[in-house]
Amino acid sequence: MKSITIEGPRRFTGRLRVPGDKSISHRALMIAALGRRPCLIRGLSDGDDVAHTRRAVEALGARVEVHGTGGVTVAGGLSGAPAPIYLGNSGTGIRLMAGLVAGRDFTTTLDGDASVRRRPMDRVINPLTAMGALVRGSGESGTSAPLTVEGRPLRGIKYTLPVASAQVKGAVLLAALGADGPTTVHEPVTTRAHTEEMLAAAGVRVERGDGAVTVWPGEVDPPDFDVPGDPSQAAFWLVGACVAEGSDLTVENVYVGPARGGFIEVLRRMGADITVDSESGDIRACSSDLKATRIAAEELPGCIDEVPVLAVAAAAADGITTFEGIDELRVKESDRVAAIVEMVVGVGAGCQVDGHRLVVTGVGQAHELGSGTFDSHGDHRMAMAAVIAGAAGSGSVTVGGFEATTTSYPDFANDFAQSTGWTP
Ligand code: S3P
Repeated sequence: MKSITIEGPRRFTGRLRVPGDKSISHRALMIAALGRRPCLIRGLSDGDDVAHTRRAVEALGARVEVHGTGGVTVAGGLSGAPAPIYLGNSGTGIRLMAGLVAGRDFTTTLDGDASVRRRPMDRVINPLTAMGALVRGSGESGTSAPLTVEGRPLRGIKYTLPVASAQVKGAVLLAALGADGPTTVHEPVTTRAHTEEMLAAAGVRVERGDGAVTVWPGEVDPPDFDVPGDPSQAAFWLVGACVAEGSDLTVENVYVGPARGGFIEVLRRMGADITVDSESGDIRACSSDLKATRIAAEELPGCIDEVPVLAVAAAAADGITTFEGIDELRVKESDRVAAIVEMVVGVGAGCQVDGHRLVVTGVGQAHELGSGTFDSHGDHRMAMAAVIAGAAGSGSVTVGGFEATTTSYPDFANDFAQSTGWTP
């Protein structure tokens, strides 16, 4: 296991670019794999999760080649994979893939690492089964990975998401392409809209409105995709710049579309000096005195992946910040509720669970955060959040299991060095 140590306090300055958006990258590869004509994808995430999805579509029969001008060309066509497909640490990869193959005339086995095998899969098994797919899970409950998906002719359904999940919505909408009629997904709380946006861009009939999205079956004609920078990765640098004194940092070319910028709203409410150029996708953040806020349950899906680093902002802020409706965080790459408590308490702020809420008592100024030792629990976002906590505070923070960052951000340590002057 690799660990790194950060001596704070540090300033975050300069301009940087983050990897291509992970959610868009997975979907670009999958939608391209359904197309008839070769499709060019530029700016794919270079993390392990997306590499697994790339290998998965190749195993299913698509051809993916590195393109001379940067990016990859995907020639679609799915004919089935002879061996189980391994999606690594990626919950998004395995759940979307289950929907992609559910209506095909072959059988697919989908698996992942120990973390993926612990995560709930009934949330995709149930709607896909309602569409007529045959999906068998594993484990005691029969609802864990590995999943065996026997392709079947599917029927269109109307489905209301029991949990706010773009992965589940995406799986159902991808399966809908092979159904006998339209499929409607109702979402009580809006989640990221990449699947429906990208299917519409690929010529699929999609209708949206009133908290629902309907997809009609049909051919997919993917355009070339330019993947913008990942806001969830940008969030680490932007929070760092907001909390650490003397900072002024810009992240360039970030996705600024719907349902992903919730963390910016939260930071603004906390008093952050943060500006978004919606034309270029450049986001600038400068040091700010942060005060506590309340993140309501309806707001959480819009910043679900940013909660670990928002907890660092809350730990530095003045007052008591509450994150409501936190249950989904327990079934992410790690139990993030437990991991956040450990991280925040470890650097000297207060953090406790109160029913479905996480309550963080801030120290008032980032430099009052102290030393600690923290394990990532194999979770990329926890490793990166802990580095930001270490950089903001005045102590020495050691982050074990740092290699987890390759899941989504292999160059994280380099970008950290570039923006803070840190040397390993
Ligand atoms: C994602 C949806 C979210 C998010 C994940 C990516 C997606 O998961 O946490 O990192 O690309 O659809 P849930 O659907 O479980 O909320």
